[in-house]
Amino acid sequence: MKILLIFLFSLILGCSNVSQSTVKDETIQVQPSAKSEDLPRITQQLVPPPYLPLHEQVASSGPKIIEVNLEVLEKELDVGQGVMVQVLTFNGSVPGPMIVAHQDDYIELTLNNPATNQLRHTIDLHAATGALGGAGLMKVDPGESKTIRFKATKAGVFVYHCAPGGAQIPFHVASGMNGAIMILPREGLKDNKGNLIQYDKAYYIGEQDFYIPKNGDGTYKSFNSPLIAMHETVEVMKGLIPTHLVFNGSKGSLTGKNALTAAVGDKVLFVHSQANRDSRPHLIGGHADLVWQGGSFSTLPVTDYETWFVPGGAAVAALYEFILPGTYVYVNHNLIEAILFGAAAHVEVTGDWNDDLMVQVEK
Ligand code: CU
Repeated sequence: MKILLIFLFSLILGCSNVSQSTVKDETIQVQPSAKSEDLPRITQQLVPPPYLPLHEQVASSGPKIIEVNLEVLEKELDVGQGVMVQVLTFNGSVPGPMIVAHQDDYIELTLNNPATNQLRHTIDLHAATGALGGAGLMKVDPGESKTIRFKATKAGVFVYHCAPGGAQIPFHVASGMNGAIMILPREGLKDNKGNLIQYDKAYYIGEQDFYIPKNGDGTYKSFNSPLIAMHETVEVMKGLIPTHLVFNGSKGSLTGKNALTAAVGDKVLFVHSQANRDSRPHLIGGHADLVWQGGSFSTLPVTDYETWFVPGGAAVAALYEFILPGTYVYVNHNLIEAILFGAAAHVEVTGDWNDDLMVQVEK
């Protein structure tokens, strides 16, 4: 009997402990969100890719709230050689602008859908936790604007994209409505040995697959609005073969006069996203000194890759220090996609040649 009483007593105590710890946990969960409102605020001025907004690589202060504004623009875009597509965009560019924050910052994101648009839009941020990456709280109809705040708990580079539901999801993503966010560790990036490193330049390359219907004579169809384009475009998508595959919205957007630039000695960070399909970046004439596989900055990068992998629905970062001048070609090393479709960029590098690395022995 005594043993039974002790057992019952300990059971009651145990229960009360469980209930106390539950209350404690709830308090812990609520506090940071209440506190976060009091953090210092900055507004990040977003810029079109391949550029990144002004940012610190090493956080000089504690966590803050970073306000960002995204406006949906439904518009027509020349994806190359005069082929016009009805694109759906964040801030007018394909991909949308890169957002940059540090781990433990809060991103307060406003999504504005002007009344002149036709479609409902949302945003699913792979860097965010809960509510379908924010899409569950951000169903924004034309003429509406909504705001969420989320904590950047994971360090890395992440895709964001529109996800309004059903067939609209692939239609919006494959019509250009995707971008990336970079969450840096507060102390900055580390190399493969765990030593802190900094980049001299950073570029954002967003790879985009388009599925454009054709006329009976083989030319590409143009449509007056995304709503009119949707049905036939989704039918082409079901074949899983893109008609166009480009970097930053159109063939040639990062080549020739639009080439990326660097100088010998520059450590350049390339962030590459593909919201829908796999890709395999390769820098012709160079390498990746460091690759943060899967886009995670919380694991140390691998070294000296020839070609690296971007799984569909992800962004990946790679760093290379240019040691010879010249024109480099940054491609998706499915060379059909690079050369015949246009998934290629140029990097024009200035500086002095080093014969030790390469020399023409016989002309
Ligand atoms: Cu959308």
